[in-house]
Amino acid sequence: MTDLLAKLYPDHLATLQRRGDTALARAGFDHLVIAAGQPRMQFLDDRPYPFAVNPHFKHWLPVTRAPGSWIVHTPGQRPKLIYLQPHDYWHVVPEAPAGYWVEHFDIAIIRDAAEAKAHLPKDAARCAIIGEDNAAVDGYAPNNPEKALNCLHWHRAYKTDYELGMLRVASKLGVRAHRAAEAAFRNGASEYDINTAYLNAVHETENELPYTNIIALNQHGAVLHYTDLNRAPPAHANSFVIDAGASFHGYASDITRTYAAKQAGEFQALIDAVDAAQKGFVEKVQKGTNYADLHVHAHHVLAGILREQGFIRMSAEAAVASGVSGVFFPHGLGHPIGLQVHDVGGFQKDESGGTIPRPAGHPYLRMTRTLEPRMVVTIEPGLYFIDMLLAELKARPEAADIAWDKVDHFRQYGGIRIEDDVACGETTPENLTRDAFAAAA
Ligand code: GLY
Ligand code: MN
Ligand code: MN
Repeated sequence: MTDLLAKLYPDHLATLQRRGDTALARAGFDHLVIAAGQPRMQFLDDRPYPFAVNPHFKHWLPVTRAPGSWIVHTPGQRPKLIYLQPHDYWHVVPEAPAGYWVEHFDIAIIRDAAEAKAHLPKDAARCAIIGEDNAAVDGYAPNNPEKALNCLHWHRAYKTDYELGMLRVASKLGVRAHRAAEAAFRNGASEYDINTAYLNAVHETENELPYTNIIALNQHGAVLHYTDLNRAPPAHANSFVIDAGASFHGYASDITRTYAAKQAGEFQALIDAVDAAQKGFVEKVQKGTNYADLHVHAHHVLAGILREQGFIRMSAEAAVASGVSGVFFPHGLGHPIGLQVHDVGGFQKDESGGTIPRPAGHPYLRMTRTLEPRMVVTIEPGLYFIDMLLAELKARPEAADIAWDKVDHFRQYGGIRIEDDVACGETTPENLTRDAFAAAA
């Protein structure tokens, strides 16, 4: 794998250099300067929050643990890495630069964060400096020019071959751990112990994961971002929603599966229907599909399932038009993914910025762009039995067309979400998640 990534990296770097040139031209600067960032301290404490590197930094290098370091891109020149290896006996000092990317950079090692100044372009006013405020060194405060960021964020949606390789590995790592978690569920483990099984298999610390694991048994599956991890197993674990990913050199996977215990055949039937629908949505991750349209299409299909399985008596069309489908599917179909689990640029109109609005009545959708080859998105439909939303529905006229006995009976299972990471191709989608599950089986 490393050999393949090494082969693909020069082209990736050349792509970022071209994008950097365009962003600088648009914003009117001469140098693109990217700060890795600095850890932030907890209030009144000498304890830092976990360090999260500037995603722009890890776009250029497979390096996520280099606080105080900088990248400088100047059109026509070799990229420069200013790399902080402090004199420090309290903490682990970042390793000396090593690997396939090193030969492509001019590297300056510094021992103190303030020394970066001597290696940054002389005229700070000509620098587009991308980073958080606390990364500043004397005279070089991040200015994050909007025109530069819009341009970079727009293009970030199009993954290079190198990035697709990174994302495939992130999916493989996540799937390996999902299989361990499913086994723990089948063995009757608690949420806490399922999470431990996941962490052991993914071999990443919780801080390294792209987001906090969602490990939800029974009705906890109705909490979209449930993160409590009960220590004790329930008397009967009938259903299990797991939404958990993995990181590979800063690239994320985001995977959700829902399982039913053997005795919960009625819930398995609903999972199977959502699973079939999800595969249909994945098939539409094709050049020219508008993601917002796909989200609305998903509402119609899911409402059809609710009707077929006897949860609602109205037509699917009426369920979507009245907002009933949104009671059972109250989040977006998915989002761009890459260097961040919810990657940037999902609403952008074009390279210069702008916003493509969400369809009315769909406030949580995170992507409205039209799909093109090299974009990677999640497809994560769900159906849930959420007490709060069902109580609101009960007070509406549509309540008369809800089969409440059936709905109430299903509250014990919480909900269903099935989430894959999918790369848009020229003619067929590449399902990174299902390919990884197939390879692992
Ligand atoms: N894991 C968060 C999400 O699926 O978007
Ligand atoms: Mn997701
Ligand atoms: Mn997820």
